[in-house]
Amino acid sequence: MANRKKVYVALTLPKILAEMLEREYEVEVYDRKGPISKELLGEKMRTVDAVVVSASIAVPRDVIESAGPCLKAIVNYGVGYNNIDVEAATERKIMVTNTPDVLTDATATFAWCLMLAAARRVGEGDRFIRSGKPWNLSPCDFWGRDITGRTLGVIGTGRIGTSFALKSRGFDMKILYHDVARSETLEKLGANLVSKEELLRESDFVSLHVPYIPATHHLIDARAFEIMKPTAILVNCARGPVVDEKALVAALKTGQIWGAGLDVYENEPVVSPELLEMENVVMAPHIASASPDSREGMARLAAENCIAALAGKRPGALVNPEVLG
Ligand code: DGY
Repeated sequence: MANRKKVYVALTLPKILAEMLEREYEVEVYDRKGPISKELLGEKMRTVDAVVVSASIAVPRDVIESAGPCLKAIVNYGVGYNNIDVEAATERKIMVTNTPDVLTDATATFAWCLMLAAARRVGEGDRFIRSGKPWNLSPCDFWGRDITGRTLGVIGTGRIGTSFALKSRGFDMKILYHDVARSETLEKLGANLVSKEELLRESDFVSLHVPYIPATHHLIDARAFEIMKPTAILVNCARGPVVDEKALVAALKTGQIWGAGLDVYENEPVVSPELLEMENVVMAPHIASASPDSREGMARLAAENCIAALAGKRPGALVNPEVLG
């Protein structure tokens, strides 16, 4: 069909996304090994009407400024959109969309997986068995941390942070939270809004659920580790640079904190080599939203966002509504 709009999908995504888009547009999907280069992304953005990217693909100002006049939407496959220069897109009247809600449960669940695994030394136990070492453990080996009845600190109580906190109900925990706004949902659970310092000082577990913005850069730094309990566990399923990774390495080495569960890293996909050597860290490769409901839901929502944007309608998850005004 002549004059169909063009969409470029810059990574491999669940099939449903391309299937939905192909009903309306000419769709090209990046199919080479490894991540797309900045040059190729820029080249594609000069000729298409919409581009689909994800957290691992940076869309900086210079790429946006050299985009073609037909580019109407940058469709992010993910809820966090710090990979995209939204200000530059807004200046060019390009819509930026994301995929909230559909990944909330999967991501909050995964934060619990990391927290439980770090607390009860699951990774270490797994490595021990695989090492083939003789299995003559004593009842004094492999003690982890207790969870039931302990204090849970949640930093950032948007959708994912709230879902994470709600999942603590079976563990009968005391909940402290820190955010810019009070959360009625969490207060109904008996949670208390406290300063970041109080939360760090009092919590046995600290889980991060903030977006990555200038104000959250190194929110957890060397000073934060000084305040935390030596028995505390830090969980990060938000964004790597929210934690000063050098300071985290030092805190884990010196016993300033007891352990960590990480899904994200400051210089992703590069991970501080020291972390690879540490038994008291459980790590995953940014897979918190990797479940069928979540990843397919993200694909559908991304496709719906794209279709709405290219039809000149307001997408369900529009990050920069100013472009419409
Ligand atoms: C998100 O959606 O922001 C997840 O971190 C996956 O990128």
